[in-house]
Amino acid sequence: MCGIVGYIGSKEIKHELIEGLRELEYRGYDSAGIAVMQHGNIQAFKAVGKLNNLEEKTRNFETSGPGIGIGHTRWATHGKPTELNAHPHMGQYSYVVHNGIIENYREIKSMLEGEGVHFLSQTDTEVIVHLFEKEAADAEDAEALFKAFKHTIEQLDGAYAVLLITQKAPETIFFARKGSPMIIGRNSEGEIYFASSDAPLIGKAEEVAYMEDGVIGYATPDAIHAEPDHLEFVPLSGDKLSAQKGGFRFFMEKEIYEQYQVMSDTMIGRVLDEDVAFEELSNDFLEGIERIKICACGTSYHAALTSSYLFERQARMPVNVEIASEFRYKEPLLNPDTLFIVISQSGETADTLEALRMAKEAGLKTLAICNVDNSSIVRMADTSILTRAGIEKGVASTKAFATQTMVLWMLSLFFAKRRGSVDAKTVATETSFMHQVPRVLKEALDVHEKCKRLSKRYLHGHGFFFIGRDIFYPLALEGALKLKEISYLHAEGYPAGEMKHGPIALADAELFTVALMPKTILYDKTKSNVEELSARDSTILSISPEMFELADDFILTHPHAHPMLEFFEMMVVEQLLAMEIAIRLGNDVDMPRNLAKSVTVE
Ligand code: AGP
Repeated sequence: MCGIVGYIGSKEIKHELIEGLRELEYRGYDSAGIAVMQHGNIQAFKAVGKLNNLEEKTRNFETSGPGIGIGHTRWATHGKPTELNAHPHMGQYSYVVHNGIIENYREIKSMLEGEGVHFLSQTDTEVIVHLFEKEAADAEDAEALFKAFKHTIEQLDGAYAVLLITQKAPETIFFARKGSPMIIGRNSEGEIYFASSDAPLIGKAEEVAYMEDGVIGYATPDAIHAEPDHLEFVPLSGDKLSAQKGGFRFFMEKEIYEQYQVMSDTMIGRVLDEDVAFEELSNDFLEGIERIKICACGTSYHAALTSSYLFERQARMPVNVEIASEFRYKEPLLNPDTLFIVISQSGETADTLEALRMAKEAGLKTLAICNVDNSSIVRMADTSILTRAGIEKGVASTKAFATQTMVLWMLSLFFAKRRGSVDAKTVATETSFMHQVPRVLKEALDVHEKCKRLSKRYLHGHGFFFIGRDIFYPLALEGALKLKEISYLHAEGYPAGEMKHGPIALADAELFTVALMPKTILYDKTKSNVEELSARDSTILSISPEMFELADDFILTHPHAHPMLEFFEMMVVEQLLAMEIAIRLGNDVDMPRNLAKSVTVE
């Protein structure tokens, strides 16, 4: 999830661009850059790391008078965070910035390289500027250049928000939007702004147009031309922090709502029609590997536990999942035929990092599933797969968990196919279900109002059980953790079948049981466990596609044909319920007491 800015006007352009990028810092980045054009000359600057590094690099550069510029903050998805991979990317006489993922960049890149184009970076984005210059080779006027830009964009598959400038059109910014947000703003001074969200435009633009998917056009100091021609400009007001939260009350709420969008990024170029591909893994990645050990903490541990069912069921590989803080002191037995996977949103969790170090010291093959490129864990692991969830600001992890679980589901199928433990029909069926996950995550949000209403009933009592079976047991653990960490109410996750081995002694009307009752796995078994609790007067909240007559409350989910679709929908319900209870209790949902977003100490 990158950030983009653009400017046309007479203010000091570097300042306008960097100030805009600073307002996009909440989107997370590992590098940044700008390109400024005046009188047909383009100057570009890029820096890895914080925005201050870019400011330092441009300290002695200033513009005066009219000009145009584009800027970018990068959250790496293709290619390490390096200066070469930072945007803007350059051609012979043009520069481009891009947010999104170009799915067919490999084909375009090899076609262009075959024609002698030399690429400087590993990114997908760079193909855009070289493709444009190929299309614009004979273009001399604005109309021909715009036609070349349109032909360029037409050849891109995937998601993109693009700004491009070229010396052939010194006063023009070309723009296109599909799948990644782009806003255009203007004011009575004749200035024109572009940004990935409205935060950088507040206090700058008087009115903005939120571009629809498929819009393409160009802007000059005199006009904004868009096709289709229906940019609807509306007044812009509001404060920057709420703009950074996209109008949501908390970053956690925003991150729950963007799960369906980031999930598409997680899957792009990986979930194919009849296979799963990871450019990070060779087809013989599992050579000499017979078993898997996974180490993680907290929510990432719950994703790991979920994946153990998937790896064993699909890839027929024995899996052992451990909490990293326990693993590191148990003098573990580590066999060379073990693939050691670590899962971490931040890539900086001390216990997980130490577990990884121990595995490497023992000579095991290591794989990190992480959301932050260039983090300590990514740098230490032999190979890493990025979850591409974008920056996660809420301490209570949501979209990171969703994308971790998706990557692990994809990985289990990737392994299963290469181990021959599933047939082609199964692979095709599984990938068809995977493609439905973004829609399921979006539809799951329909119960938000119900969760808000229900939350008033769950503010007291002496605790919660979250119960489920199979993959819904780790999901029960996750639901309990979400509730605990932001509402400060006591909650435990339990395998539903474990109730009669002691925990049911706690059952009474003051004990709330949140029962995950999917129809696709062990519904009848789970139902009888819930009946046992209901018979002892526990207050039951059932989350199920089927009405459960003994439930005191219920949240009806959609019927699905695959357990993982039920999993993702019930995950959203748990997230929303925990958040609404915490909000009613007046807690700071984004920064709950005693917690940090990344536990970098033991
Ligand atoms: C999850 O909501 C918590 N914030 C916490 O359990 C977190 O998952 C854990 O600290 C692990 O963090 P990591 O994924 O960054 O390694």
